[in-house]
Amino acid sequence: MARRGIRSITVPITFGAVTVPLSVFLLVGWTTFTARNIAESGEVAQNVWLLILGVLSLIVIMSVLVMFSIFLVREILEVRRQDSFIDSVTHELKTPLASIKLCLQTLERSGIPQDKRAALQKMMHHDVDRLATFIDDVLQASRLAHDDMSMDVDEVRLGELATSCAAVVSMRHKVPEGAIRVEVDPELVVWTDHAALEIVLRNLIDNAVKYSKDGVDVRVGARVDEVRRVVFIEVRDAGIGIPRKDLKRIFHRFYRVAEEGVRARKGTGLGLFVVSALVRNLGGHVEAESDGVGKGAILRVRLPMHEHEQASRAVASPA
Ligand SMILES: Nc1ncnc2c1ncn2[C@@H]1O[C@H](COP(=O)(O)OP(=O)(O)OP(=O)(O)O)[C@@H](O)[C@H]1O
Ligand SMILES: [Mg+2]
Repeated sequence: MARRGIRSITVPITFGAVTVPLSVFLLVGWTTFTARNIAESGEVAQNVWLLILGVLSLIVIMSVLVMFSIFLVREILEVRRQDSFIDSVTHELKTPLASIKLCLQTLERSGIPQDKRAALQKMMHHDVDRLATFIDDVLQASRLAHDDMSMDVDEVRLGELATSCAAVVSMRHKVPEGAIRVEVDPELVVWTDHAALEIVLRNLIDNAVKYSKDGVDVRVGARVDEVRRVVFIEVRDAGIGIPRKDLKRIFHRFYRVAEEGVRARKGTGLGLFVVSALVRNLGGHVEAESDGVGKGAILRVRLPMHEHEQASRAVASPA
């Protein structure tokens, strides 16, 4: 992990090690040259061209240094994000593996009652599912980063899909019944890639629950804008909220808000990167809204209502 970090910032550090002494050398050279010329001729006016050249060089050097500083800060932030990503990945892999190992060790003991065996096996299934989902997400993010994907157009019943995603998230976070409410017209049909929209909804609902405070209160809604021919899907929560300055950054790869409430919850900073890439590929857009820390959040996805013969009949049609 450490070696990866060191290697990543080697380029800007080498760049700095060359440009800074070079800049100093050029400045000292220019000052000495100008001073000598003025001393020899005694005329400042005759050396105006030297002054202009000097000022121009200074501007170039300062620009290079400013660009270098920005580049270095970006690289350092990226390295930090990669490090925290690797920490999170390690945690996400180790926790279910440790749990499976413990279950296996318990099952190996003799005299375990049948109901306890069944409970342990259920726990192991849950951990294996968690591992599989996590690995899928990481692979998906990697594919998306290389734009390696194709999209299908399926008839998706939005209410059904949202309800099944909510059920998966409820089970994962063990939230009480009714904590996630899906308020979507059961007849609402969207023509889009089913698998992609499922990943999008699962991630948004997962975040809404994960970043909730004690009482989970998540609502998933949808509305159709017939004029603009788009569908809006909203996932609202009453959780820890998102600072205004982070509303766009949370869609960057590995980005996690630097707040205690976020650090206390495990995550890799990949979920919303995946969401935004998938939604973009579906021809839509995703945005976050929040009144600030502690004030909940709304994640809103806009998807086009494809000018599909069946779509125009099916979207939002009455029962
Ligand atoms: N509903 C929300 N409420 C508050 N903050 C949120 C919410 N959704 C996302 N965030 C912020 O956006 C960041 C990025 O979210 P994202 O889903 O990409 O990563 P993650 O949840 O940290 O990890 P994972 O990759 O496991 O989903 C989060 O770390 C969190 O700071
Ligand atoms: Mg997430």
